[in-house]
Amino acid sequence: MSLRPVLQTRKAVAAIEGAGVKLHRAFGFQDPSELDPFLLFDDFRNERPQDFKAGFPWHPHRGIETITYVLAGSVEHSDSLGNSGTLGAGDVQWMTAGSGILHQEMPKGNVSGQMHGFQLWGNLPSAQKMTAPRYQDVQSKDIPEITDDDGTTVRVIVGEFWGKTGPVDGIAADPQYLDINIPAGVKKTFRIDTYRRAFAYVFDGQAAFADASQPTGILLEKEVAGQEVNIRDMSGNRTLVRFGTGDEITVQAGPEGVRFLLISGAPIDEPVAWHGPIVMNTRTELEQAFRELRNGTFIRPAH
Ligand code: CO
Repeated sequence: MSLRPVLQTRKAVAAIEGAGVKLHRAFGFQDPSELDPFLLFDDFRNERPQDFKAGFPWHPHRGIETITYVLAGSVEHSDSLGNSGTLGAGDVQWMTAGSGILHQEMPKGNVSGQMHGFQLWGNLPSAQKMTAPRYQDVQSKDIPEITDDDGTTVRVIVGEFWGKTGPVDGIAADPQYLDINIPAGVKKTFRIDTYRRAFAYVFDGQAAFADASQPTGILLEKEVAGQEVNIRDMSGNRTLVRFGTGDEITVQAGPEGVRFLLISGAPIDEPVAWHGPIVMNTRTELEQAFRELRNGTFIRPAH
């Protein structure tokens, strides 16, 4: 077993997307090789309807997958293929844009004004960029949840974990997408196969993702669950943790516990030509996509 080092921790930054939705971006539109096969991660948790109700009106996607995970409130969506529906709390939509769709995503919030959720973009390899569009809508009740003896719970959204398999399938990047909740003071180790690129995104509580044996950061002595433990560089809400190579990670939950997403996938390792919601391999393919958008041939007829 070799521990994956923490390459970097950084806070998500405020951004405005769609028709004026205020959100926080953990990564995206910088170096696409950094977390290959993943391109972008947006945290759209918000308590103020005026900050999200303008939503994400009609826009195209090609060459990628978008993965929406709702924690509270709801998102209404509809698309150029005639699909429409509502994602509620705990639900996941895995959309393979493939050759192209036009869709809109309208956050609605709940009665107390909360709209909580995340959107991840996964890249598609060249062989699948022009595949037929596909949706996998998963209801919360169909997502396996495992509770360990120490009170740790894991929702398995995609991939295999502790003997359970998430309900989403057939994805090129072989992703694993877990929602993990660890109680105060508990230390856990999670296996992540070496070939995967991995990151964590903390959205509640705090944790240390580095091990005491790693080069020192700031060392803090804290009492957690009656034990004296060394907690280095605690990562809190809206922190992205990027892991290096190895086959496991270790997490020491802080005094309030921690909840985070643990996401990994097989790197695609191909050239990326990216403009807005369209991600191809070459400039020529990108130019063709925008030409098709202008002349109305972007959406392929169903076959
Ligand atoms: Co979209």
